[in-house]
Amino acid sequence: SRILVIHGPNLNLLGTREPEVYGSSTLEDINRNLKEVAHHLGAQLDAVQHNVEGELINIIHAARGQYDAIIINPAAYTHTSVALRDALAGVAIPFVEVHISNVHQREAFRHHSFMSDIAVGVICGLGTYGYEAALRFLLQKPL
Ligand code: DQA
Repeated sequence: SRILVIHGPNLNLLGTREPEVYGSSTLEDINRNLKEVAHHLGAQLDAVQHNVEGELINIIHAARGQYDAIIINPAAYTHTSVALRDALAGVAIPFVEVHISNVHQREAFRHHSFMSDIAVGVICGLGTYGYEAALRFLLQKPL
């Protein structure tokens, strides 16, 4: 299987950004671990990060035909972006939505997601392990 991991805005700052909320792993640490797990389970995994909404949409469009599933942390765009939702719906690639923090424990504006109802599943509050959980879930069945 071919898995694309998409990290949204500000996640390039992981490791130094609000470590009490997001932990101390860097994006590089997370991606390295995911690639290791994917390799171990016989899958191919690519990871990208972008801060710009339109670029994330372009990345999702380009994934069509190239990937079997997407793991996405849309970060703040989760709560704002109809365009990102429409891109995910448009390419119809199954995706798991991941949040490092438990968004339901936080401000009310983080409780709504424009993506969740069209996601295969949603993981939040498991820290950076949430990405690995999503990956293991996707790879436990034929895609
Ligand atoms: C986040 C939660 C979002 O509310 C926030 O805007 C982020 C990260 C998370 O991974 O916990 O940037 O998606």
